[in-house]
Order: sequence, then structure tokens, then C-alpha cells
Amino acid sequence: MKEDIKKFYDNWYPETLPCYIQTLMELEEKLVLNTVEELKEYRDIKKEGGRVLDCGCGFGSYFSLTRDLDTLYLDLSYHQLKRFGRRHRLNSNRICGDILNLPFKDNTFDLILCINVLEHVRDIRRGLRELHRVLKDRGVAIVVVVNRDSIVREEIFNDFKIYHRALSLRDFEMEGFKIERYVTFYFLHPIFKVLPVSLLRYFIDKLYLKLDYRLRDIFRGGGQFLCVVLRKC
Ligand SMILES: C[S@@+](CC[C@H](N)C(=O)[O-])C[C@H]1O[C@@H](n2cnc3c(N)ncnc32)[C@H](O)[C@@H]1O
Repeated sequence: MKEDIKKFYDNWYPETLPCYIQTLMELEEKLVLNTVEELKEYRDIKKEGGRVLDCGCGFGSYFSLTRDLDTLYLDLSYHQLKRFGRRHRLNSNRICGDILNLPFKDNTFDLILCINVLEHVRDIRRGLRELHRVLKDRGVAIVVVVNRDSIVREEIFNDFKIYHRALSLRDFEMEGFKIERYVTFYFLHPIFKVLPVSLLRYFIDKLYLKLDYRLRDIFRGGGQFLCVVLRKC
């Protein structure tokens, strides 16, 4: 199964996907970036410094969050890491590895980012235990996943040829981790895909990005994506 995932991501070129899919993926990226940047726990690390792991970094969509920090980038796919290096001119700090068996000592990191990775992991407990193990005491994991309890279901983020399972806040309840906070986001109904791509982009940039924040308050817990802040305790 691990081999299937590796093979899939070794051959994954999102830039070859249809334009409307790329547009929705860009929307998700913007929302993830804004969401993480606003988290107190992320701001604290930005201010105070610390060791960071981007676990399942892919080709570096969220590099801007960590480029100024002491960060290691890990992914199962060597190919994704190579693309990451080319894209951001990085020669070091990238490691090929498995979230289920992280190649780090206990108590290594102050912050772990794990964005859209755990959906591919069958044994989520084991994945969380590994994140817990390599975090320092009081360290923080910021995890983003597709939300099982979402009120909208965008197929683009659910329909994978490899193992992929949306997760729920309950999946993160675990001894040793305190759920410090959580937020859900992305409420764009799939019906908007009928718009021509240029109009869809205009709508997203001019209106939707701000509207998403209002919808978070109204439909708390119901967004397509779930961001959970876990503190090791
Ligand atoms: C949907 S991509 C997300 C990439 C990046 N975090 C982002 O949000 O743009 C999922 C990534 O998780 C990686 N991945 C999947 N299973 C993994 C595992 N067991 N250990 C480490 N990385 C894994 C894949 O290789 C892929 O790069």
C-alpha cells in the first residue's frame, strides 16, 4: 500500500490537471496559508524560533510558511522532494521517509506541519504517535486534513485512486495530545464549478476568500477542511 502511494505521488503533476481543478486547489492553498498564519501557535514559533518539520511536504506548496525557520522537509516520495528542491532551489534539509516510522530521535521538533497527509495513512493512531514521539514537550503539531464532517463534499478532494480517507476531529483525540484549537474552512459548493474558470477565479478572489471567514463562524465544524492544533502534554 505504501508503494501505491509512493508511485502515485512519484507521478503526480497537478499542473496537468484541468484548469478548474487547479483553481479550486489554489483556493484551498490560500485558505490553508491564511489559516495557519493566523494561528497563535504558529506565530509563537515565528517569533521565538525552534525546530520545524514539514511532514509530507510534497513539492513545497507551503514553503512560504517555513522558509525563514529551521525546517526539515520529509516526504514518502523522492520525486516530490526532487521537485521541491528544483522549485525552491533547496539543496539540503529534505529527507525521504515515512510518517509511520519517522527517522528522528524523540523530542526533536518544536513544531510539525502535516498538511493533507494523514488521509493516506491507514493506521492514523500510529501516525499520530510518531508525530507525538518526535515533538518536544509542549511542542505543537498543526494538522490539516479533509474533514469527514463537512457539509459540502467536493469530489476533487475526496476522489483518489489510492487509499484516502477523510478524517474527523474525533480521530485526533489521543492521550498525550491536547486539542488546543481547531478550525474548519472551505465552504464553496461544487455547483460553482459550472462557472467558466475566469469567472470562478474572479468570484474567489473578489468575494469568496473573505466570505469563507464568515461561513466559518456560521457553520463551525462543517468546512471541507479541518485544521487541528495538537499540543504534546
Ligand atoms: C496531498 S499531498 C500534500 C503535500 C503537501 N503537504 C501539500 O499540502 O501541498 C500528500 C503528500 O503526502 C505524502 N505522503 C503520503 N503518505 C505518506 C507517508 N506515509 N509518509 C510521508 N509522506 C507521505 C505524499 O507523498 C504526498 O507528497
